Amino acid sequence: NNYLVIMAGGIGSRFWPMSTAEKPKQFLDVLGTGKTLLQQTVHRFRNIVPTENIYIVTSTNYQQLVLEQIPELTPGQILLEPCMRNTAPCIAYAAWKINNLNPEANIVVAPSDHLITDESQFGRVIQTGLSFTKTTDTLLTLGMKPHRPDTGYGYIQADETEHRSILSPRTPFPIHPVKAFKEKPNRETAEQYLDEGSYYWNSGIFIWSAHSIIKAIRVYVPEIAKIFDRDEEAFYPENEQAFINENFPTCPKVSIDYGIMERAVNIFVLPADFGWSDLGTWGSLWEKRKHSHDGNTVVGSGVHLFECSDTIVNVPNERPMVLQGLEDYIVAEANGILLVCRKKEEQRIKDFRKQVTLQN
Ligand code: GDD
Ligand code: MG
Repeated sequence: NNYLVIMAGGIGSRFWPMSTAEKPKQFLDVLGTGKTLLQQTVHRFRNIVPTENIYIVTSTNYQQLVLEQIPELTPGQILLEPCMRNTAPCIAYAAWKINNLNPEANIVVAPSDHLITDESQFGRVIQTGLSFTKTTDTLLTLGMKPHRPDTGYGYIQADETEHRSILSPRTPFPIHPVKAFKEKPNRETAEQYLDEGSYYWNSGIFIWSAHSIIKAIRVYVPEIAKIFDRDEEAFYPENEQAFINENFPTCPKVSIDYGIMERAVNIFVLPADFGWSDLGTWGSLWEKRKHSHDGNTVVGSGVHLFECSDTIVNVPNERPMVLQGLEDYIVAEANGILLVCRKKEEQRIKDFRKQVTLQN
């Protein structure tokens, strides 16, 4: 009864100009490992979820890319959104579809842009989560220990005085009720959370039964639930795509974090440590790459640095380039665009992209 839903319809706008709407970062080999982020995501679940229970939700525009990169899936396992409506409608679509196939389904929802280094620990954590949500009406998220006041994450305040591993004595990880969930706080608030210590970052990896998430969507984002509840025959294979093409665009644009996680009361967190990093921004890639002694990391063979530190340079291979005096910068050239931006300001790259390309 275990299913996996991979969200792969984002455009990776904070990773621009390398990540573009034509080919977003999940379809790129960002780390130079020989596998794209999407391929890595699918492969880390190979011993956890049967291949036939894996669904990838993406934009119609990326259908071909997914089929090429994940040939083990049948076209029916790729759910196609006619337009971007953020993660709540994406998760709703998959939940209603899977529930239609199997009302007992227990679902892991995973982003397609993460790096996880300890896959065996990851497997144990996911199994623990699945056995928890199988028997409870709860929404579980995996929490990561925060180490900087990053404003690009959701913050989870755990009630660590209480935990549920008592329910199942063999559960190797404690699972805590969540007191509060705050999506992308400002810098000041993030600093407070970090000082307080009882906060975790939301990893964006969720576990719940189809039944529980559908129930929560009906309560907290009824505008979305109404659409999927409208027609009992919507998910008959012959109707599905036409139904989605017609109705999906009427979903409001809302993320699961703002729509459900900030509001629902039956949220739990499983704190975990499996070498997680979100490859959401250039700064996160800078952290993951090998550095020179002054903290620089360079891709591109024609790059000459003088008095630079903590800087990430990513330029096409032989492009000659001389950089002097940059501290804590991003220099990235791709798809005909050169970006030079302070690392501290990297959350704004999303807006820069919008202004330059005039598209959402
Ligand atoms: N199918 C589909 N459709 N997928 C989408 C859409 C969409 O409209 N929008 C985003 N996604 C996919 C992205 O490709 C990514 O894999 C995942 O959903 C998460 O979206 P992001 O846009 O990367 O979210 P975020 O990084 O700003 O924030 C989320 O992840 C953080 C951890 O990485 C939140 O859940 C935060 O709370 C969390 O801390
Ligand atoms: Mg992300």
